[in-house]
Amino acid sequence: MVSSKALHMILFVQSLILLFALRRMRYTGELVLRHAQEMTVNHPGEKQPEIHLRNEVLTMRPIYVVTPTYTRPTQMADLTRLSNTLRLVPNVHWIVSEDRVHISKPVQQLLEHSGLSYTQLAAPRPASLVGKVIGRGVFNRRAAIAWIRENASEDGVIYFADDDNSYDTRIFEEIRQTVRVSVFPVGLVLRYGVSSPIIENGKVVGFFDAFQAGRKYAMDMAGFAVSVNHLLSKPNATFPARVSYLEEGFVKSLEVPVTELEPRAEMCTRVWVWHTRTEKAAKPSLENLKEADYLAYSNTNLEKLHKHLLEDSSADKPTTNMP
Ligand code: UGA
Ligand code: MN
Repeated sequence: MVSSKALHMILFVQSLILLFALRRMRYTGELVLRHAQEMTVNHPGEKQPEIHLRNEVLTMRPIYVVTPTYTRPTQMADLTRLSNTLRLVPNVHWIVSEDRVHISKPVQQLLEHSGLSYTQLAAPRPASLVGKVIGRGVFNRRAAIAWIRENASEDGVIYFADDDNSYDTRIFEEIRQTVRVSVFPVGLVLRYGVSSPIIENGKVVGFFDAFQAGRKYAMDMAGFAVSVNHLLSKPNATFPARVSYLEEGFVKSLEVPVTELEPRAEMCTRVWVWHTRTEKAAKPSLENLKEADYLAYSNTNLEKLHKHLLEDSSADKPTTNMP
């Protein structure tokens, strides 16, 4: 028979062994954990490319995309299409400049919903020029230029992107490389079906464009980009209020000789932007509902649908909305 004293002794020794084993396990656990942490610091594995990508985007030159726009039935469709394109382009700041006295609510909502970095401006043509043929979107583009002169980052690039054109995202990476003024072809322009700088031995020597009319820089609005730095070096650079000569007048005021323009899009052999034009469309109206009265529309969705559509054409609020 084992005495109770001996039994206690055995139990005591066993507890000591157990305690030692537990401590050992804890120590091993800590070692494994520390090793794992060191591994994460030195070899973050799958996380690393993501971080690299984010830094890359942050160090990319910003592109200031200037879009003049005005209230009409197709406006939301055009701006939605353009906002979806711009969402695919890193480091873009979208300046939407409305041809009216105050910014409009539907455009504001569209910009908010887009998740893009944006500035919404409004600038109408002066009363004295209303009804005169001076070219479209002059004063709202000028307001965007003034905003850029005040607020844009000096290493940025400016591009004038009309709301109804179509853009391949590759054109934005060409634009991002602009030193002073980049130029490239635009598809679907007038009767030649394309407008392009003419390149000989790597230099611009002229312009293939159906509308020459004495233009030294016979280009489409969508066919060039200018660096913020260069714009800042030309304090008088602006759009003239002269129909058909907006691009010519602006590029001229940038004072870069034709041969020093920078050809992009594989030396102007690719079309990555098109001058598409949205067909005019009817404006929804409550009158149409009256016409279709036999449908007893008051018990259907139609009334609310029209309320939403008509809301879209009203509402003036502040004049700017900075990011
Ligand atoms: C062509 C050129 O590509 C434009 O850059 C130029 O402004 C225009 O001609 C002109 O006539 O001056 P086009 O497709 O014929 O463009 O014209 P729109 O697309 O109707 O207008 C060009 C841009 O200006 C659009 O973004 C449009 O929304 C805007 N716009 C148009 C205004 O801001 N206000 C207006 O009254 C009309
Ligand atoms: Mn257009």
